Amino acid sequence: MAFSSTVRTLFRLLLGLIAAALLAGLGGWAVLEAGWYDAGATRQHFQFVHTLLERGMHQSVRFHARDIVAPPGRDAVMGAASYKAHCQQCHGGPGVAQGIIGLSMQPVPGPLVDASRRFEAKELYWVIRHGIKMSGMPAWGFHLSEQEMWAIVAFLERLPHMTPDEYRAADPGGAVGGDGAGQAGRDGGQANATRGKLALTQWACQACHLIPGVTGPDTHVGPPLKDLAKRRFIAGTLPMGEENLVRWITKPHEVDPATAMPQLGVPERDARDMAAYLLSQ
Ligand code: HEC
Ligand code: HEC
Repeated sequence: MAFSSTVRTLFRLLLGLIAAALLAGLGGWAVLEAGWYDAGATRQHFQFVHTLLERGMHQSVRFHARDIVAPPGRDAVMGAASYKAHCQQCHGGPGVAQGIIGLSMQPVPGPLVDASRRFEAKELYWVIRHGIKMSGMPAWGFHLSEQEMWAIVAFLERLPHMTPDEYRAADPGGAVGGDGAGQAGRDGGQANATRGKLALTQWACQACHLIPGVTGPDTHVGPPLKDLAKRRFIAGTLPMGEENLVRWITKPHEVDPATAMPQLGVPERDARDMAAYLLSQ
């Protein structure tokens, strides 16, 4: 008898837990649907949420960067130019504040003068290459070369010892551009559909197109990119095929000067991988 009453107690406990979880879920859903959650960037997180997110981010970076091997001989001079071109606007530098975009973001991108004390070189590289989801920290893997990303890491390692004067003097000639130079993850000459799927998100194609297998907004600015392999024409003008698809993605304005599809500066290797993915969907 004692046995069956224990089972009954456990069963009731389980039912209670399920009911509580359902109620909590329902409550959360109601708050969401009512619009009570303030999504504005002027509303700060609670301190404990902020602390929890920071810790989660740091642990995630540590875990994902664990197998990366930092190359020797990184070029901090090149890193200075790159940093000023791509990072200063949000993170500032010694004696230099962020631009208005960086100043008013939520979470606010902190100064990186001490980043190399909180992160190892390989972890800094990982953050630069992959960015940080839902924070506004962009991923640079498709827009900067490997060499440039490691150069920025080298520069970050020098930042803690740099005075505002030294910072100003670093790369006085102005910034070098990194646009379209992304080479990260490129393996040989073969088109790689898996990398192509990632490349589509790193060039923001899903902002205008519904793409099978790619998470994004419910957008119809451009036509959905599904069943491309079955289509006869691209944008109603170019015969469908891998070469033409690459041409359209890299130079839509050359094909049709009047098209609303922007010329994004996608390098050919990324376009090839994207085409491989799109034609497989
Ligand atoms: C559009 C704005 C923006 C740009 C440009 C930007 N970042 Fe960030 N960065 C952020 C935000 C936002 C965070 C997240 C801050 C947080 O969660 O505390 C962040 C976080 C980081 C972190 C983790 C910092 C920490 O203290 O925990 C590093 C390292 C970093 N960025 C490096 C860079 C580098 C290097 C560049 C240039 C290649 C760069 N960022 C460009 C917005 C930006
Ligand atoms: C700002 C919005 C926008 C972005 C971003 C954008 N596109 Fe487009 N795209 C369009 C529009 C609009 C069209 C229709 C153009 C036309 O028919 O002239 C189009 C057409 C296309 C087509 C032809 C589709 C068809 O049905 O024939 C392909 C393929 C395509 N885009 C791929 C891409 C890829 C890959 C990216 C990312 C590198 C991208 N687009 C980014 C707006 C966009």
